[in-house]
Amino acid sequence: MMRFKNKTAIITGGGSGIGQATAIAAAKEGAAVVVADINFENAKVVAQSIEDRGGQALPIKSDVTKIQEVEDMVTSAIEHFGRLNYVCYSAGLQTYGTCETTDERNWDMTLDVNLKGMYLVAKFAIPEIRKQGGGAIVNISSVQGIRCQKNVLAYATSKGGAIALTRAMAMDYASENIRVNCICPGSIDTPLLRYGAAQHGPEEAVLQEWGSNHPIGRIGRAAEIAGTVLFLWSDSAQFLLGQPIVVDGGLTSVIL
Ligand SMILES: NC(=O)c1ccc[n+]([C@@H]2O[C@H](COP(=O)([O-])OP(=O)(O)OC[C@H]3O[C@@H](n4cnc5c(N)ncnc54)[C@H](O)[C@@H]3O)[C@@H](O)[C@H]2O)c1
Repeated sequence: MMRFKNKTAIITGGGSGIGQATAIAAAKEGAAVVVADINFENAKVVAQSIEDRGGQALPIKSDVTKIQEVEDMVTSAIEHFGRLNYVCYSAGLQTYGTCETTDERNWDMTLDVNLKGMYLVAKFAIPEIRKQGGGAIVNISSVQGIRCQKNVLAYATSKGGAIALTRAMAMDYASENIRVNCICPGSIDTPLLRYGAAQHGPEEAVLQEWGSNHPIGRIGRAAEIAGTVLFLWSDSAQFLLGQPIVVDGGLTSVIL
């Protein structure tokens, strides 16, 4: 399928994990992709691999918590590709702690990267998407925005906030054909998840255990979330907005 020919997408956190998989999948379907990440080396590697396969990609170094860097990212995207149709916000951090053990800096950093950045990116992306007569934004939240483990105060708060922010933005722009949705993934095999697993014990054993908690019997693949991002951008989802779409191998449906 080439659902996104002559379309441009910005993917924040595009240098790794879910963002990387989304950039690759979108480019395969014809989109010109802006691979934005605070880690410019990773962004360049992903963009190069897309170009090597005949796709169009622009790597950009951008910290989603800095308003000027976000504005510059959108400006560069327009200068380079001439238009903006879609955003996938996949920049994110996993942090741990209770209200007693989370220090203020950690709280601020988690909320800034996982939540405030969504508002900043949308602030500059929406006017450009409007110029194209509409488009779509997909934010990556988490099942932890709906249910949660222990010891994830700031992370769970940021992810619950992302669901509310998504709903609020969807209401503001529904009449302009700009659809905003978010995805709540279960455990997905990415560097972020592997970092989390290593905090709990031997990495592979922990990943195996987490996988077995998902009724499907395994953790997810980044490409499985990318597929949902592309569906939510696509015309097949034209009546779908404001929703948290849970993609979790059954995790939030099961009673363990
Ligand atoms: N992997 C999972 O199991 C899982 C589950 C649920 C939700 N999520 C969410 O999915 C999103 C993507 O996570 P992932 O697993 O692909 O992680 P990842 O670590 O592989 O990728 C996240 C990317 O975000 C970038 N980033 C971090 N801070 C940034 C900043 N200030 N500005 C710009 N980029 C920044 C990182 O450099 C990295 O490339 C996150 O929001 C995460 O919370 C992941």
